[in-house]
Amino acid sequence: MRDIICDYVVWKKDGIYVDGTLGGGGHTGAIVERLSEEGRLYSFDADKEAIRHCSERFAEEINKGRLTLIHDNFIRACSIEELRGKASGLLLDLGVSSKQLDSAQRGISHRVNAPLDMRFGDEGECTAADILNEWKEEDIERIMRVFGEEPFSRAMARRIIQRRRAAPLRTTFDLRDVAASLIPPHILSKSLARIFQAFRIAVNDELSILEQMLRGFIPFLESHGRIVIMSYHSLEDRIVKNVFRDFSRNTDDIPAMVNILTSKPLEADEEEIMRNPRARSVKIRVAEKK
Ligand SMILES: C[S@@+](CC[C@H](N)C(=O)[O-])C[C@H]1O[C@@H](n2cnc3c(N)ncnc32)[C@H](O)[C@@H]1O
Repeated sequence: MRDIICDYVVWKKDGIYVDGTLGGGGHTGAIVERLSEEGRLYSFDADKEAIRHCSERFAEEINKGRLTLIHDNFIRACSIEELRGKASGLLLDLGVSSKQLDSAQRGISHRVNAPLDMRFGDEGECTAADILNEWKEEDIERIMRVFGEEPFSRAMARRIIQRRRAAPLRTTFDLRDVAASLIPPHILSKSLARIFQAFRIAVNDELSILEQMLRGFIPFLESHGRIVIMSYHSLEDRIVKNVFRDFSRNTDDIPAMVNILTSKPLEADEEEIMRNPRARSVKIRVAEKK
């Protein structure tokens, strides 16, 4: 699947590309392999651990000047002037890496006891603990209902408010214990996954950043430049679908800017899912600049 994705992204060997979600560097490595000596790749990650790991992994490519790692939110790609109208492709493999899920610092997984942080990086004003201990009940409820589609959102929000009156929630296990106090054990694990994902999406403002990125970066693409988005959440996929649709239509003032190359999103086959269970929920959409 990685090859199919990177073949979509890299349509010319000497182009300038952006991987907005470096992570462990799997896609970055596959993109760089497809480039000629003149090709360039900028890879972003908000997580300094991903940057540190990939600085070592790709030291040779970095020295040759073909790869530049940038420790920042991918939205910053829209302010790199060198890319304006010249970018040949963008890849976003959204969400978290398995390293982040297992990290004892990030607090992203309900399976690892860690401070309730959930930020991809060290920047950004608000952590999950800030939301859980300071936000109003209805806002906490909305996060779980909208971003997590969690049936227990209302009861969970009420229980969180009661719990924080006694003592602030500080760790992932504090939040897990609140959930365990009201959600039946046989469905607890699925609820926890939805609840933790919902707070992570809120902390990192993921949906709004995704929409800003798509709308901001499409004009940066050169003619035939590709944009390939791998999303794992129905709300993310809806944003990608709607933005691609908006940019593929003529309006009164602006002619259509892209052709959509995937009328239906691409999905992983059973073999891929066996190898990588996370691929079960992936939806991949591709658009090409006119
Ligand atoms: C699913 S992983 C990417 C895995 C990568 N494609 C690979 O092959 O190893 C997503 C990565 O993107 C980063 N990330 C997510 N949203 C980001 C954003 N808005 N700006 C910068 N990095 C982001 C996360 O920190 C994480 O390391």
